[in-house]
Amino acid sequence: MSKIAVVYWSGTGNTESMAASVADGAREQGAEVDLFQVSDFDASMLENYDALAFGCPAMGSEELESEEFQPLWDEVKDHLGERKVVLFGSYEWADGEWLENWKADAEDASVNVVDSLAVYDAPGPQEQAACQALGAALA
Ligand SMILES: Cc1cc2nc3c(=O)[nH]c(=O)nc-3n(C[C@H](O)[C@H](O)[C@H](O)COP(=O)(O)O)c2cc1C
Repeated sequence: MSKIAVVYWSGTGNTESMAASVADGAREQGAEVDLFQVSDFDASMLENYDALAFGCPAMGSEELESEEFQPLWDEVKDHLGERKVVLFGSYEWADGEWLENWKADAEDASVNVVDSLAVYDAPGPQEQAACQALGAALA
């Protein structure tokens, strides 16, 4: 059985809601899934997981959240190896450039990003289904 961690930061709950659906989608495929707020995860825990989903909304100016999520991402990105990874998050002010920046950073670090998903504001039923499909892709 594949073991998956879903690790997220969320200020107002939109990315948190996405994370729950990503976890549901992976569980539906038979994976064992642990859901973490970013403050409860660190690089020493990577060895416990076959695949990971990282969630963070657009913050700053098309950036990751700087206090907790960016440091965690910088800590783990060089240690993910061949593990499958998906990236997701919510945005509101622009057109999803933060996720393009994040994917480029992941590519520079040779992270095995298999899929990603940006959702405008709060996810509705269609977006929740897309989040579940994202989780299923990891399982
Ligand atoms: C400090 C701050 C910075 C933000 N920067 C951006 C941004 O650069 N681009 C964007 O599209 N949205 C930006 N937003 C909007 C959030 O990404 C959006 O409200 C998102 O839905 C929040 O997700 P969350 O509920 O998971 O925190 C920003 C919001 C805040 C509070």
